Amino acid sequence: MFHVKQDYMSFKIIAIDGPTGVGKSTIARQLAEKLNYLYVDTGAMFRCLAWSWKNTGCPEDEQSLQDLGDQTQIVFKQDRVFCNNVDVTAEIRSESISISASQVSRFPLIRQVMKQQQRKLVSEVHSSGNIEGAVLEGRDIGTVVFPAANFKFFVDASPEIRAKRRLLQLQERGEKTNYEEILAALIKRDEQDKNRKVAPLRAAEDAIIVDTGKLNASEVLEYLLGCILR
Ligand code: DC
Repeated sequence: MFHVKQDYMSFKIIAIDGPTGVGKSTIARQLAEKLNYLYVDTGAMFRCLAWSWKNTGCPEDEQSLQDLGDQTQIVFKQDRVFCNNVDVTAEIRSESISISASQVSRFPLIRQVMKQQQRKLVSEVHSSGNIEGAVLEGRDIGTVVFPAANFKFFVDASPEIRAKRRLLQLQERGEKTNYEEILAALIKRDEQDKNRKVAPLRAAEDAIIVDTGKLNASEVLEYLLGCILR
């Protein structure tokens, strides 16, 4: 067990978990900006791995997955994401990478590598002494990666609301798609994420549940800040 509170003293860790398309990224990024904390998009990390995995033919044997984990270098630079020195910022947001990310994230070995990398990112920033906390968003931050996080939020909304939001995002990016396809893919991804054997998507017992279907982005941010700063 990783004892964040003891290990990090006054450094604060905020975990934001939830299903796909719920608006986690917007909320987590804005929260990190407001608090001047490190922002870690762990979904982007899994998406980078999925990108590499696809490029090597989607192998499933232990050795290939180990090599994938060891050899995939992920770097966040300002608003860009680089995977093995390639700027993959836009490419990893495609629907096809969304599906592969959900598939590759079910392998225990891959989850182990990701957990270590996520903890390392936070530990490096903590050691630098320049930043007072980190906001991490994903599926298992409050349950597995930082189970002793100072604040845990589980953001949720109905599949229909999330599918409508995703449709708008993809249309803005010029991807050809339709609502029914998106809804079906989203429900499938929810099932995969919730039912995998290791670190399934679920709310930590001590997480604060936030329904983003009833609130807009700024109301959610205000609510989270209220919980953290009170
Ligand atoms: O948050 P996202 O949609 O960018 O995540 C893409 C996929 O990565 C998601 O379907 C499941 C996986 N993921 C995960 O298993 N654990 C995380 N902490 C973050 C993402």
